[in-house]
Parts: sequence; structure tokens; C-alpha cells
Amino acid sequence: AACPTIISRAQWGARIPRCQSGVAAPMKYAIIHHTAWQCCTTLESCIQQMKHIQNYHMDNKGWCDIGYSFLIGEDGNVYEGRGWNTEGAHTSNYNTTGYGISFMGNFTNVAPNAAALAAVKNLLCCAVSKGYLRPDYVLKGHRDLGTTECPGSSFYNLIKKWPRFHA
Ligand SMILES: *[C@@H]1O[C@H](CO)[C@@H](O)[C@H](O)[C@H]1NC(C)=O
Ligand SMILES: *[C@@H]1O[C@H](CO)[C@@H](O)[C@H](O)[C@H]1NC(C)=O
Ligand SMILES: [Zn+2]
Repeated sequence: AACPTIISRAQWGARIPRCQSGVAAPMKYAIIHHTAWQCCTTLESCIQQMKHIQNYHMDNKGWCDIGYSFLIGEDGNVYEGRGWNTEGAHTSNYNTTGYGISFMGNFTNVAPNAAALAAVKNLLCCAVSKGYLRPDYVLKGHRDLGTTECPGSSFYNLIKKWPRFHA
């Protein structure tokens, strides 16, 4: 599977992590989140969101870095968060066994656009072909694993129909 272009940390101007620890691929879970914040439809506005989210996670949540493994914009791009090889802070008890993939926007009342959905499908295929995700990986929404609305009801109703979804 062709891997999508991933906007690297250097490209979006990420801050240096305060700490990091590695994870052992292949991972078992792909966990879908939303940021419940602003959506973005251009490279510039998505980069601005990435910086806001990283600042919030590092300065308000006190985490070492942006929490998610990857983020998806409605510009159709994948943005590198912690990436494939570093433990995230996205889902309690699942940070070391899953990748947290978060869609920028609030998807309670509306699902992400076609460009964002195509991007995640490519990312997931790519992850299996590169050995980051097990071929029999399980896809979940954050709400399946904790008390949260995340990734928003409209989006959750959609991912429930995806092939590797299992609540
Ligand atoms: C997301 O959108 C829903 C519906 O408009 C709203 O009730 C909720 O407060 C929003 N979430 C955040 C964190 O703003
Ligand atoms: C995992 O991520 C969550 C964020 O959802 C964070 O609160 C937690 O401290 C992280 N670590 C563990 C061991 O759950
Ligand atoms: Zn979440």
C-alpha cells in the first residue's frame, strides 16, 4: 500500500519533546479520536492547530509532547504527532499498545470530510504494510475505552462500519 504524505514535525514546527519512550511495533490497536476543537481545511490553518494542540498538551496537560500519534486535517493531510515509534498520551491504558489518531475538529454533529477519511484509510493500510500495525489490528473509538464522547457521535457512527472496528 502506498503511504500517504505525512507532514513531519519539522514541517509543522513542533516543539522538542520534554521526554519520550519507545513502543514495540507492531501495535494491536488503532484508536480514533477527535480534538473537539477547530477544524482546518488548509495546510496553514492545520499547522496552526497542530501548534495550539501541542502547546495545550505540554503546557496545560503537562505531557511530554503532543499526545496523539498522528493527526488528520480536513485539508487531507496526515500530521506527525509522536509518530510510529514513540509512546503517546492519548488513551489511558492503551498508550503502549495502540496508536492514537486524532481528527482535527469536533465531529459530534458532522463526520470528517472525504479528504480526511481517505487520509486515515491510507495511513492504516500503510501502517500494516510497514509492520507498525498488526494485520489483524483492532480499530476502536476512544469512547470504547474510556468515559468520553470522543471521537464525536457522528464520526463514531461512521467508524463502527469500518472493517477492522470492534467495540
Ligand atoms: C462539540 O460540539 C458539540 C455539538 O455542537 C458541543 O455540544 C460540544 O460542547 C463541543 N465540544 C467542545 C469540546 O467544544
Ligand atoms: C496515557 O494517555 C492518557 C491520556 O489519555 C494520559 O492521561 C495517561 O497519563 C497516559 N499514560 C497511561 C499509563 O495511561
Ligand atoms: Zn479522544
